[in-house]
Amino acid sequence: MGDLLKNVYDPENFRRQGHALIDLLADYLDNALSRQPDRVIPWIEPETAEERWAARLNDTGQEPGQLFRQVMEESIKLHHPRYMGHQVSPAAPVAALGGVLNDLLNNGMGVYEMGIPGTAMERAVVKSVAGKMGFGPEADGVLTSGGSLANLTALLTARSATARQPVWTEGNTSQLALLVSEEAHYCVDRAVRIMGWGEAGIIKVPSDDAFRMRTELLEPLYQQAVAEGKEVIAVVGSACSTSTGSFDDLEAIGRFAAMHGIWFHVDGAHGAATIYAEKYRHLVKGLELADSVVMDFHKMLLSPTITTALIFKQGRNSFRTFAQKAVYLLNQEGDQDWYNLAKRTFETTKTMLSLRAFILLQTYGEAVFDEYITTVNDLCASFADWLDARPGWQLAARPACNILCFRVTLPGLDETQTNALNERIRQELLEEGRFYIVKTQLRGKTYLRVTLTNPFTRIGDLEDMALDLEAKALRRTQETS
Ligand SMILES: Cc1ncc(COP(=O)(O)O)c(C=O)c1O
Repeated sequence: MGDLLKNVYDPENFRRQGHALIDLLADYLDNALSRQPDRVIPWIEPETAEERWAARLNDTGQEPGQLFRQVMEESIKLHHPRYMGHQVSPAAPVAALGGVLNDLLNNGMGVYEMGIPGTAMERAVVKSVAGKMGFGPEADGVLTSGGSLANLTALLTARSATARQPVWTEGNTSQLALLVSEEAHYCVDRAVRIMGWGEAGIIKVPSDDAFRMRTELLEPLYQQAVAEGKEVIAVVGSACSTSTGSFDDLEAIGRFAAMHGIWFHVDGAHGAATIYAEKYRHLVKGLELADSVVMDFHKMLLSPTITTALIFKQGRNSFRTFAQKAVYLLNQEGDQDWYNLAKRTFETTKTMLSLRAFILLQTYGEAVFDEYITTVNDLCASFADWLDARPGWQLAARPACNILCFRVTLPGLDETQTNALNERIRQELLEEGRFYIVKTQLRGKTYLRVTLTNPFTRIGDLEDMALDLEAKALRRTQETS
């Protein structure tokens, strides 16, 4: 072996570089929480970033300290209270430390012997989440890499458990379909197409003024689909929808699914976390009726990306997802080997996802999730009140959780001009970098959108952001009039 590899694994190098990295990150945290530097997002054009990083890649033989600093400085700062953008938690520092441990140990987790603590921790986390959701001891599940993959996995299980045809062995021989709100996350649509059901396989249920599924339409849409020769095997509830954070009526959907003997899946990637919040738990009433539920730890539960729980009311169903044949084998107790996780996940090698959730639950208990969710949801309601009382602002709907869509409306502007104005001022905000918010389209209208994931954001930060946008809107319309 040459010196290069010895250098790669040198423990003293690791100690020195690691200490420097932790110092750098602790300073980042300290600064970000006290709103330093001023910019949350150091915006640069994609072509400039591409050029810069391509040049750096050729700059070989550097100590990693410089790279760590560059990545940190040029990244978006989720721990900054003026971060109000996408649905990603500002990672709890202790969970990030778990990330370093996980990455160096690099236990693969596909089978038990490759990741013994990770496998057992996963079991403990899954059982704890399932209990909190209101399921019994027969519930079980897995952790997987993100809500999109978890939703696909749940729907594959639904197909395996519910469809009349054995698709796993024979492929699609008839038109399968599911019902889901038009406001659901696009990954449900994508999952349907991945499963080969095509456009006919997704029946979109219209939503009401608050962007919740109109559950009274489930029955007629179901009957129509059956009359068209489709086999409807599942209904998906959103808890909550992505754009507006609207929670479907899970009790009504659960009753409908039970009546027709079809699978009831809940996409709770964002909002299932509400099970931990005493004040907001009512939003997921009926969750316990579901056959499967997805919940992201990296959205509302302070974990680093990407950590998702997929829970099945009947744990044995989780063994049916990827091997229908195995159902016969699995009738024997011994074959439900919960500890060989790759049998039940799309991933073969999987990172130790459980550590992130376990570390938070063990260090702080469930109370930390309650405090977090209540803080950000309450803040969102206060901001909605403030905007509502101020002329020139329009809300898409009252917020149910920590997601709010709103837009500037100025007298004399038609719909197209209002859309263009909101697009423009959001882009200006992004490029200046003092605040980070996003935008969305709802029924043809452009809305600005915040997801309040940083518990240190104050109402004053939100008011400053809105006033900044107002000033931009006025300047813009004066320039163009
Ligand atoms: C309701 C919902 N489902 C699924 C997803 C996708 O989750 P992930 O980004 O973890 O794949 C999202 C992400 O925004 C979401 O809001």
